[in-house]
Amino acid sequence: MIKKENFGSSFKWGVTLSAFQNEGAAVADRKGPSIWDAFSSDTQNINNGDFIGEASDFFRRYREDISLAKSLNFGVFRLAISWPRIIPDGYGQVNQSGIDFYNRVIDTCLEKDLEPWLTLYHWDLPQALEDKGGWTNRKIITWYSNFVDICVQAFGDRVQHWVVMNEPMTFTGLGYFMGYHAPMRKGIGNFLPAAHHATLCMAEAGRIIRSASAKNEIGPALSCSYVRPYNHRLINIRAAKRVEALLNRFFLEPLLGLGYPTDVMPVLRVMERYFQPGDEDKMSFDFDFIGLQYYFRVVAKFSLSPPLLFAKEIAPNTRKSNLNVMNLDVHPGGMSKLLKFYASYPQIKKLLITESGVCYPDFQVARHVHDVRRMKYHQKMLKQVLKAKKKGVPVEGYFVWTLVDNFEWREGFEPRFGLVHVDFDTQKRVVKDSGLWFQDFLK
Ligand code: NOJ
Repeated sequence: MIKKENFGSSFKWGVTLSAFQNEGAAVADRKGPSIWDAFSSDTQNINNGDFIGEASDFFRRYREDISLAKSLNFGVFRLAISWPRIIPDGYGQVNQSGIDFYNRVIDTCLEKDLEPWLTLYHWDLPQALEDKGGWTNRKIITWYSNFVDICVQAFGDRVQHWVVMNEPMTFTGLGYFMGYHAPMRKGIGNFLPAAHHATLCMAEAGRIIRSASAKNEIGPALSCSYVRPYNHRLINIRAAKRVEALLNRFFLEPLLGLGYPTDVMPVLRVMERYFQPGDEDKMSFDFDFIGLQYYFRVVAKFSLSPPLLFAKEIAPNTRKSNLNVMNLDVHPGGMSKLLKFYASYPQIKKLLITESGVCYPDFQVARHVHDVRRMKYHQKMLKQVLKAKKKGVPVEGYFVWTLVDNFEWREGFEPRFGLVHVDFDTQKRVVKDSGLWFQDFLK
């Protein structure tokens, strides 16, 4: 049996939400349109033709949701700031009512004795900036710095924990390479500049927040996967190393001052095409923590396509794997190995699991939601975290994705990750068994 005490008294227990996936209120109080408002307004882009509508209505129900997090005994409330709610066209006039909204949210967290952690970018780029090239335009560094500066000025008197960006590999990979997410751009010519600019923006955000107060705790939230080669043939082992470089090292290493991982992917030297003098230094920052978000395992083998990577994933549903609703290979055993891997970088001071969660079908009987599989999933993940911690890995927090069911991007409302069930017709919340387990575990 795992016990909260085993994690130590400084270990942080939290829940994570995002702006686009939770808030709704897409046009309220002069909020500007984001690339995700544009993308999801064509419901053919979304699984089952789902329409986001008010999502989980956090804009109106934030008090209820913050109280719920408190009642489940969490101590951290990680939320994201919507850039177009603060600056409707991305770089121009500030929308005071957007700032007022987040002030109310932050104050409510503090009243309830929950530590607010602010994520500065969780993928909802102002559409007006995308019209100017979005992440592929180097001007994004100026636009982002301005946005970060405004947030620090507005919230920095009460907020000390800052996540400079959420999962850069997901939004650049799916949104600027595969065309699967907003803004539906494709190809390496979009991906490489978008990725390089995201790296520079994370480091620059770090400098801005640090200069506002030395007390601030700052880090990025990076996605990662446990990657295995298909078999022990050298060609597949090397393919897996490349996939690992892309999924686990690509953003981390330049942030740590190590440059892009060209050792196993020499082809990444093409990134230099987008460099300007001084970028090597500007790409890194001395972060206080690195946030990790591990959802699925990848099994990789050599393949002629895509070129540059020369590797492909073996689809999880064609091998024996434990699939979630999104057909991803759920493998808690990868967590301790990943943590050990990240702890091997001497530049990393502290690790936090800034998101961990799973989407399985929920079964509602009368007023109860029995989600035993989700509960067991978190228990297994926590055992893995503890295992790593006992071996000396400096992992200091576990934040659940997510508090209440919400809108899962292109997958719509079907995948449910919450500890609290939401009826999207009535917005009624019911704490699931997994939430009740946390309540008891954390008390
Ligand atoms: C990571 C992302 O940050 C979040 O937005 C998403 O909902 C979860 N993964 C689950 O897929």
